[in-house]
This record gives sequence, structure tokens and C-alpha cells, in this order.
Amino acid sequence: MSYTFSHSQALFERASKVIAGGVNSGIRKLEQPVPLYFTHGQGSRLWDEDGNEYIDFQTGQGALLYGHAPQGMAEAVYEQAKRGTHWAAQSLLEIEVAERLCQLIPAAEYIRFNNSATEIVNSVFRLARAHTGKPLILKFEGHYHGWGDEGLVGFGIPADKWGPDERPASLHPSQGVIPEVLEKFIVVRWNDPEHLRQRVEEFRGQIAAIVFEPVLCNTCCIEPGEGLVSTIRELCDRDGMLMIADETITGFRFGGGGAQKHYGFTPDLTILGKAIGGGVPFAAMAGKKWVFEKIINGQVVHAGTLNSNPLCLAASKWCLDEIIRRGEAHPATIIQLGRQLMEGLRALADRFEIPLRPQGPGLVFHTVILKPGAAEGPVRDYRDYVQRHDAARFTHLRRCLLEEGVRAIERGLWFLSLEHSAADISDALARAETAFSRHAQEWKKS
Ligand SMILES: Cc1ncc(COP(=O)(O)O)c(C=O)c1O
Repeated sequence: MSYTFSHSQALFERASKVIAGGVNSGIRKLEQPVPLYFTHGQGSRLWDEDGNEYIDFQTGQGALLYGHAPQGMAEAVYEQAKRGTHWAAQSLLEIEVAERLCQLIPAAEYIRFNNSATEIVNSVFRLARAHTGKPLILKFEGHYHGWGDEGLVGFGIPADKWGPDERPASLHPSQGVIPEVLEKFIVVRWNDPEHLRQRVEEFRGQIAAIVFEPVLCNTCCIEPGEGLVSTIRELCDRDGMLMIADETITGFRFGGGGAQKHYGFTPDLTILGKAIGGGVPFAAMAGKKWVFEKIINGQVVHAGTLNSNPLCLAASKWCLDEIIRRGEAHPATIIQLGRQLMEGLRALADRFEIPLRPQGPGLVFHTVILKPGAAEGPVRDYRDYVQRHDAARFTHLRRCLLEEGVRAIERGLWFLSLEHSAADISDALARAETAFSRHAQEWKKS
């Protein structure tokens, strides 16, 4: 097939004259050979300005759990738009959406809405500090909690700045961050309960909350190892810290109850984004009633002009009804399809002698390519990932896949949607065969 991208190239050049850097989110520049410009999507498929059709596993960075342009959602948003796009006030819709969230999520008794998970992260950290009267937040290395000054501490830090294994440095990948913020975070390696205990001990009595992605989707899709989540819960209960589950990716993807139901834990606060709105700018925090006390009495400010915007609520109500309708059947089907894709990619990789090792729970997974001489076995944490994953080689393979019409996320993540079918997986693997063959030949020569 081998797609070309001349229309996207021309549009990117035009955009670069009026949009800083040509894109509106830094990571979009990673797309090779050029950031793509899309015209429309339907279900599992997406089309660009060059007329190329993709089987899409990027799915709007995971927000499009219900596929591209679901008709029911389009109608719900259209009907709402005719009645009003924005009120900055109350509506029946916001109660209906909050009721559905409380019905679906085990640890949800109260809800508040914002428009991005980054805003929710700010809100829950503020609430946790106010509630406990303690200044510090403990987070895990390589976990992504939005792009703010606080959420991004300890993410994407280069190896020469890591600090020792026992005390990961508290650094931020961006310049311009309020320097004192870094002192308010304790960074801990993922999947090492003993190390976690030691770090909590070091700062005992000063920690307001422990925040984590239940599956470390933003770095290599690493599931929580034996005893990790229960250790977080135990330490939080012992020291009065809040357990904050960032379910921005895992929420609804793992079924209505999210990762907390799937892995069997109960957080104090839950961060929800992406699939809660199926692609509209919508996010929420959910938690036990007592956690919200200071928001209710006004001691903690939580605000936003576009909070509980009716267009977003209409979309979200449709999404949540879709999850409720699917009941217990979800997420079994997308787990199974995702595993099929993982196994198919691994078989192709073996055939073409590419050291590709898909890992993750299926409904989202990461394709690690081992560096020459790197050890086998699942990647366990951020440091392990950087040391063993051959990012340059994956970039080449990803481009070959794109040119054959299979679109994964630039850094190696794949999202399944509820619109992907067994036929899509077979089609993707047939296209991947050509891409892997090309990659194997070209990479050998390079
Ligand atoms: C786990 C996690 N938390 C928070 C965020 C921030 O979400 P948003 O981009 O909606 O602000 C993301 C975004 O990718 C995420 O993956």
C-alpha cells in the first residue's frame, strides 16, 4: 500500500506559519514523517487529507472508547446544541451524569466536573492537602497526571538526571515550573512495595496523598505487581493519606467500575477523563462523601466557567448509557481482541526476527522493542523501560505501520475501542505483515 502524505505535509507547512510549532500539543509533533491532518472517522477507521484510510489504534489518545463519530452521541450533542451550548449553571443533565457515575464506580459517592483531567489533578491535589493539612504528594516515576506544574513531576526524566534507585529525583520535564513545586513531591519507583514503604517512612506524617495510574499506561503499559495496590491502601489507611487513583485511561475501558473494580481496590478519590466523554472535553473527580467536605463548605475552591457544560454532559450521558447497556460483557470482548492483536504482532515479529514484545492487559497495550543485548521478560518500571526499549527502532516500525494504514501511538501504545472487530484485527495483522517485512529489511541496512 505504502501511503504518501503530501497534503498533510503542505498543511503542516501552512499551519507552522500561524500555529506555534504547527501543532497544538507538543507530542503531536512526534508523528513521523509529518503530523497528519484528518478529515473524518467512522467506527474503527480514520481518513486523512491524502485520502489514506487507517485502522486506528491511537483512538484520540484513548478517549474514543466508543469509536469515531458514534451516531448516537452525534445526535445527543446535536439535540443539546439546539437547546443551548453553555449556561454556566445547573441542569438536569449534570445530575443524570453524576447519578450514572455513582452507580457505576464503586468508590464514587460524590462527583465534581471539569473539562480536562489535568484540571481534575489540580483539584484533587489541592483537596488532599487541605483535607489532611499535609504538604506532600507521593507519585510514581513515569506516571503521567496531566501536563501541569504538579502532575508532570517525575515524568519523562532523562537517565542522567534520575538520581539513585532508592531516591528518584523530583524533577519536571518542562522549564518555567514554579521551583518550589518540586519539593512538594516524593517520587517512587513503580512496582516495588518495599521501596514504597521506605519512602513513606522517610516522609511519614508529611504526606497528603499517594497518586497512581492503576495500570501504568503512559510508560509501557505496566500492570500493578503482586501486593502493590494493597500496600498503597494499607499505608494510606495507616497514616491518614488519601489514595488517589488516576483512572483517566483505565476508567470505563476496564468496564463501568474501572480498574478499581477489575483489580479490586477502593481509592478515596478517582480521576476520570478521556472515555467519560468519548472525545469531548470532559473530566470528573469521584470520591467518598467525607473527602468532599472542604469543597462543599467552600474552604477549597473548585471552579470553572465551562464545568458541567451541557454539550459535554449530553455526550457523557450517551457514553455512560453505552457502558451500562453493555453490562458485564464489557471489557471481556476488547480484552480478547487486544490479546489477539498482541499475539498476532508477536508472531509476525518472530517471523521477521524483530525483538518486539507486546505487554499490557490487551484492551490497551505497549509494543516494546528490545535493544540489542537487552534482557527478556516483562518491563517492570520506568527505568527498566528506558534501559531496554529501543525507541528509535520503534519509531521506524511505527512509520512502516502507518504507511500500511495501521495507526498506533508514536511511543508504542495501542488502544482498542468497542468498535474494533475481529475483522479489523485480521486486517490490521495483514497490513502489519507488509510493514514488518519492510521494517526488517530497512532496519538491517541502516
Ligand atoms: C493518566 C492520565 N492522567 C491525566 C491525564 C491528563 O488528561 P488531559 O489531557 O485530559 O488533561 C492523562 C492524559 O493523557 C492521563 O493519561
